[in-house]
Amino acid sequence: MRDGQNREIRYIRVSVTDRCNLRCVYCMPPQGVEWLPHENILTYEEIGRICRILAEMGVDTVRLTGGEPLVRRGLEELVAMLKAIPGIRRVNLTTNGLLLARQLPALLSAGLDGVNISLDTLDQGQFAALTRRGDLFRVDQVLQGLEAALAAPGLEVKLNCVPMGYNDDQLVPLALLARERPLAVRFIEMMPIGLGAHMEGRSEAWVRARLEEVLGPLTPWEGEAGSGPARYVTVPGFAGRLGFISAVSHQFCQSCNRVRLTASGFFKTCLQYDRGVELRPLLSGPDGALQAAMAAALAQKPAGHCFAQREVEGGEGRIMNQIGG
Ligand code: 5AD
Ligand code: SF4
Repeated sequence: MRDGQNREIRYIRVSVTDRCNLRCVYCMPPQGVEWLPHENILTYEEIGRICRILAEMGVDTVRLTGGEPLVRRGLEELVAMLKAIPGIRRVNLTTNGLLLARQLPALLSAGLDGVNISLDTLDQGQFAALTRRGDLFRVDQVLQGLEAALAAPGLEVKLNCVPMGYNDDQLVPLALLARERPLAVRFIEMMPIGLGAHMEGRSEAWVRARLEEVLGPLTPWEGEAGSGPARYVTVPGFAGRLGFISAVSHQFCQSCNRVRLTASGFFKTCLQYDRGVELRPLLSGPDGALQAAMAAALAQKPAGHCFAQREVEGGEGRIMNQIGG
């Protein structure tokens, strides 16, 4: 399936809930947000149907996101349902890791292929400040999730960190998690979306310089490229690798291969723009109508973001927990 800019679209990020057990500073306001009512959230059957139609159109990879996807009950049922769709090769999960250790066995039995864990710091004080839930949760719980994931045979495991100044002293310790294990530790530039628009992030160049000061030269990773925009390096002697996802300093829109589905059923063709189509009203109709609506939306997929310009007409009004990254 090709979009209006002749880019091949093979990957969908599906947000299964806007709810989350954390309140990360770049994602949610301190007072929290009003959650979508349950009846406005797509059922697993509806998500499965939309993904089946997309698979017929050429999508082969699904990533489940949130909010926090593991707060939605029975997620393994959705994983199994998606894995059974002809054409879907991989089903991955992005999670804050807190509930992962407990749920991983069921997710693995359902056929989960990969997990990305978001963790911006190893320091409990910083974790408490950045997630505003230090009274309820500990970094150790995330690390238990990480260890469980690394122990699962064949599961692809990545860790995502957003460098933002406050966690400067954590970048090297997080990178070192890839020294002994086959883990990809990725540094994601803060994107000016939602609350991130009001926060200053660290650039890839800044992070690279910081890591090289301590770890020595970063060398290009020779392994297979992934399905996303990360560019990988390694450090001599490391079992794993380091990655950079730099939407701000190295715009990658020309090779964008993805679309998104929000928890309430908005088929979203670009992270930055409010462009796309509301699928919920079409769910009572035939598959053909859903397919036609998604194809029409894809023909209009924006060529790229313009993060440099902070106020954009038709720009995204949602905050990150509603989009799923
Ligand atoms: N910029 C970059 N990454 C963000 N995330 C949330 N908000 C932003 C932002 N403004 C990240 C989280 C998580 C992923 C789903 O998105 O840290 O890793
Ligand atoms: Fe939850 Fe992820 Fe948002 Fe943090 S960034 S509040 S973990 S959805």
